Amino acid sequence: MNTSGLLSLNDAHPAMRHFACKGDELYLAGRAVQAWVEEASSTPVYLYDTSVVRSQIGRLRDCLPSGVKISYAIKANPFEPLVQRINQWVDGFDVASLQELELALRQGVPPEHISFAGPGKSTDTLKRAIEAGIIINLESVTEIKRCVDLGSELGLRPRVCIRVNPGLDVRASGMKMSSSEGSPFGIDFIQLPEILKDFPVSSLELLGLHVYGCSQQLDAERLLAYLAAVLEQFKTLASIFPVPLRQINLGGGFGIPYFPKDQPLDLELVGQGLAELFVQHQGWLDGTDIRMEFGRFLVGEAGVYVSRVLDIKESGGNTYVIVDGGMHHHLANAGLLGQVVRRNYPIAVANKMSRAVVQRVNICGPLCTPLDRVATAVDLPALEIDDLIAIFSSGAYGLTASPTGFLSQPSALEILCQP
Ligand SMILES: Cc1ncc(COP(=O)(O)O)c(C=O)c1O
Repeated sequence: MNTSGLLSLNDAHPAMRHFACKGDELYLAGRAVQAWVEEASSTPVYLYDTSVVRSQIGRLRDCLPSGVKISYAIKANPFEPLVQRINQWVDGFDVASLQELELALRQGVPPEHISFAGPGKSTDTLKRAIEAGIIINLESVTEIKRCVDLGSELGLRPRVCIRVNPGLDVRASGMKMSSSEGSPFGIDFIQLPEILKDFPVSSLELLGLHVYGCSQQLDAERLLAYLAAVLEQFKTLASIFPVPLRQINLGGGFGIPYFPKDQPLDLELVGQGLAELFVQHQGWLDGTDIRMEFGRFLVGEAGVYVSRVLDIKESGGNTYVIVDGGMHHHLANAGLLGQVVRRNYPIAVANKMSRAVVQRVNICGPLCTPLDRVATAVDLPALEIDDLIAIFSSGAYGLTASPTGFLSQPSALEILCQP
């Protein structure tokens, strides 16, 4: 307990460690969630504490070897006020769609600090990316040809990097972005010597290499083993690169705790290990710009999704609680974004934080489909209509009606909470 009477939720759940409560109220950015919701006068609502984002970026700056540039992967959360804020603290953006590209450009970021990865870039999108002068991470032979053609049509020399598919089987709690069985992302490492031999350097300004082969990794040793293998591949490619290797983007993959057994990534260990790897790779790496890109690590833990209880009923001996938010805003929490078996995100009743747990309930969203699950068999205090259900770790890949857009449902309200 500190002097303001706020009690840290550090011990409640790793995913709640950035939050606090006072009496019955969950607090976010120094204010009760209930007060934020009243100000919004609407639920469901996403609330983001930007001080958490800032502190995550600060931790990265403290732990990563100096000079490593940090990009924010906008797909994790494209809410423009949030992106605007993040722009003050990072060195650039990774974008994955035309809308994200326009959003990044609106922030006034120099185009050479914006990179575009994604396996299916349309001709129109590539055209805009080339005109804007951002870096295109080339994902296939077709994309190389397409950029050459578009460059000649536009009278421009597109800025490009090659996205390498390292073909590594990375065991992670998240989704596989790379595999020895192939992947839609990037060009296979083993195909690159042949491709680099004839790379059209007069048509394309080839700057360097990019990789993103691992996501939601919480194990520092595994992450380092992956990065070590990637650096070995990059070293090989650097030796046959047809132009000086000006930049490498090592991706990221840093995970955050979602579920009870998840422990936060040991960032200090990752930083130390990476610094050692950079020492081992002195020589070919000297003078090369090094960048990494992060999505959920920056924003995931900063957000809670708050919905309101609309109904409570008994059925088949179970209690069902219906809330006004669900899978149409939070596909990840519904277990529909890469989970094999759905697990509950950390959850709390934002206006009953000090009440005793007395019941096991199922919480469902308002959509008329059994897929609309908010929480299954959770133990909570006695609930009433209008109570507020907060879902933690909701700052990334939550809002589905985003510019990246999975579904075309109406958007939930989003609010930036000032620290
Ligand atoms: C190319 C690329 N960069 C960055 C990210 C961000 O990943 P995360 O949110 O896990 O940090 C992704 C996620 O899919 C990605 O595909």
